[in-house]
Amino acid sequence: MKKLDRGFALTWLGHNTFKLTTKSGKVVLLDPWVEGNPACPKAHKTFDRIDVMTISHGHGDHMSDAVTFGKKFSPTVVCNYEIHVYLKGKGLSGTSPMNKGGSQEAAGVRFTMTNAAHSSGIEDGGQMIYGGEPCGFVLTLEDGTRIYHAGDTAVISDMALIGELYAPDIALLPIGDLYTMSPREAAVAARMLKSRLIVPAHYGTFPALTGTPEMLVEELKKLGVKSEVVALKPGEALT
Ligand code: NI
Ligand code: MN
Repeated sequence: MKKLDRGFALTWLGHNTFKLTTKSGKVVLLDPWVEGNPACPKAHKTFDRIDVMTISHGHGDHMSDAVTFGKKFSPTVVCNYEIHVYLKGKGLSGTSPMNKGGSQEAAGVRFTMTNAAHSSGIEDGGQMIYGGEPCGFVLTLEDGTRIYHAGDTAVISDMALIGELYAPDIALLPIGDLYTMSPREAAVAARMLKSRLIVPAHYGTFPALTGTPEMLVEELKKLGVKSEVVALKPGEALT
């Protein structure tokens, strides 16, 4: 357990999926992919409750469990408009759409949608359905702590704006390379964001995702960026 002592727990479920338990006991699932997620420990595949799910984009490794969990736990689903329409068509009623630059509150957490450079098609029955644009989220917790979940993205200069506007305490950044930033780009992202802590994600799930936290530490050192890298193990929580 890595201590922050702010009354919340942020658990990495492997890949780009995180579970946030807030001070008041609400559960927020970021990018619901646990069932088929080879990195997610078995013990973390079941939930007592899910109050909110956020979806960063339409790819299966970020929303494969959205329909199942949406039906089982009736969470508020915070996502872009196109994914909202798609999920409504699948029978979910709790979707709460938004777009970049906007914020909304759910379960005592404020969600701000940010830009991301990636794609967002939804694969369904061999067809590619338009899933709107990919995004990231800044979560502002009850105590003011800000967590930036970048989603899948390249490094973008918008991250300087995210740093200026929201000054995230914790940044959850993809580092795996190939489909997202590698550690080299993530270090430049960290320089713009100025977060105290960086939790690397979207690496190690498959052999093709080759970036490692050690490489990120090395790249940060080269740039003189002071952010601390907290490399969680899947199932491990930052509390
Ligand atoms: Ni993706
Ligand atoms: Mn992905």
